[in-house]
Amino acid sequence: MTQHFEVEPVTPTIGGNVIGLDLSQPLSDEAFEQLHAAFLERKALFFRDQNISLDQHKAFGRRFGELHIHPASSPYKADGVSHPEILFLHADENTTRTAGDTWHSDVSCDPEPPMASILRLVKIPPSGGDTLFASMYAAYDALSDPMKRYLGELTATHDGAANYRDRAKRRDNFIEDKEYPRNSHPVVRTHPETGRKALYINTAFTSHINDVPKAESDALLSFLYQHNTNAAFQCRFQWSENAIAMWDNRCTLHHAMWDYYPNVRSGFRVTVQGDKPL
Ligand code: SIN
Repeated sequence: MTQHFEVEPVTPTIGGNVIGLDLSQPLSDEAFEQLHAAFLERKALFFRDQNISLDQHKAFGRRFGELHIHPASSPYKADGVSHPEILFLHADENTTRTAGDTWHSDVSCDPEPPMASILRLVKIPPSGGDTLFASMYAAYDALSDPMKRYLGELTATHDGAANYRDRAKRRDNFIEDKEYPRNSHPVVRTHPETGRKALYINTAFTSHINDVPKAESDALLSFLYQHNTNAAFQCRFQWSENAIAMWDNRCTLHHAMWDYYPNVRSGFRVTVQGDKPL
C-alpha cells in the first residue's frame, strides 16, 4: 500500500509537521524509511488528529525499536489490562508537580536511555501546555572549538533519585529505600545513527560533571544550561486533541510548559529503548 505524506519544517533547525499520515494503519516499509529519515533530520515530528488505540500507539513505537519501561512508574492499566510500556501523563487541579516541566532528555539516568518518545495528548487545556524542543546539535555546533575540545573529554552523572523521589513523595508512593538509576554519560555524545555530536546534559537528571571540582562543575553546568536553551535552537509545539509529538532524546531536550493550572492535560507516552551514549 502506498502511503503518501509530507514533512513540513517548523524552523530551519528543528521540528517537522507530518501531513497526510494515518498512524492507525500499519506503516509500509517505504513509509517507515521516509519517516525515519525525517525523524533523524527534523529531530522532533508532529502529527495531528491521530485517534489511535494504545495497541496502535505501541505498534507504531515498535517500528523504531524495542519499547522502554519507565524505571519509576507503575504500569498503566486500562479495562483490567496492564500496559507497562505506556506512561500515562496527567495534570489537573490536584497536581503539585508535572512530569517534564523543566528542560530534559527522557530518563537520561538510565544506562541505556530512550532513543525516542512518542506522546499523544487526549485532553488539552483551553490554552497553554505547549511543549518546547531544543536541538542539542545546534547547541554543540555553536560552542567555540576550545570549549568543544574541553567538553569532549568530560563525563557527567545523571541521577534519577532527586527527580523521581520527589515525584513519588507527591504521589504518596514513596518507598524510602527504593533505588533509582544513576549513570555516567559523556557530556558530548555522538548520535549512533547520524554521527553528529550533541550536548548531553540536562537540569532534570544531571547532578554534576565528573572528576572536576564542584565549583567548576556548577559553573560549567550553569553556563551550559543557559547556552543550550537559546531560543535559536528551539521550536514550540501547540497541542490539539489527539496530536502526537515524537522526539529524538539523543539530540534534543524538551520542556513541557505547566502554565495551565488548574486545567486538565493528559495523554499517553510510548518510549523507545536506546543504547549506551558514546
Ligand atoms: C515528557 O514526556 O517529558 C512530557 C512532555 C509533555 O508532557 O509535553
